[in-house]
Amino acid sequence: MGVGEFSYKISISTLTVAFLLIFIIRLAQGHFHLFCTPHPVKATSGDDVILPRHVEPKLNVAGLTVEWSRPDLHPDPKNCLSLNEYIHLYRHNCEVTDMKLPSYIGRTALFTDGLREGNISLRITNVTQEDEGRYRCFIPKLKSQSFQLFILLLVS
Ligand SMILES: *[C@@H]1O[C@H](CO)[C@@H](O)[C@H](O)[C@H]1NC(C)=O
Ligand SMILES: *[C@@H]1O[C@H](CO)[C@@H](O)[C@H](O)[C@H]1NC(C)=O
Repeated sequence: MGVGEFSYKISISTLTVAFLLIFIIRLAQGHFHLFCTPHPVKATSGDDVILPRHVEPKLNVAGLTVEWSRPDLHPDPKNCLSLNEYIHLYRHNCEVTDMKLPSYIGRTALFTDGLREGNISLRITNVTQEDEGRYRCFIPKLKSQSFQLFILLLVS
């Protein structure tokens, strides 16, 4: 067996192992679910609320991207950037605020300690009637299936 043939075999098997690993990781990622309550979260104007949501099984998501949005809010037709507006966007271990809906600035937070346990619950302070609606949480990296897609917040 020549040297060339030998290294060729090595690289083929290295590639195979790499692909297998990627496949297994993909497979594992498909098994995560985002859990939340099927019941609406009820609040009174001025309250602080927690929209509960967590990853099952437990997973440290502190290094991942977590997106909280409100799919019902219609994008502002005069502002094409508003297509990408978030209630709360967490990326690279901190909050990204340049795509944040103005009415939520300074009012939302994730639980930093909770993220390491897969707790991606969102805290909203001083809720108003305008906050009422469906909230969606998404972790793009997990490609997870959610049984319960939205959390309904009711404000009276
Ligand atoms: C997530 O964290 C919030 C705030 O600490 C807490 O109220 C909630 O019970 C936690 N959820 C889980 C599933 O641990
Ligand atoms: C809560 O929101 C109301 C109306 O937006 C505002 O007038 C009030 O100052 C806010 N309270 C706090 C504690 O931020």
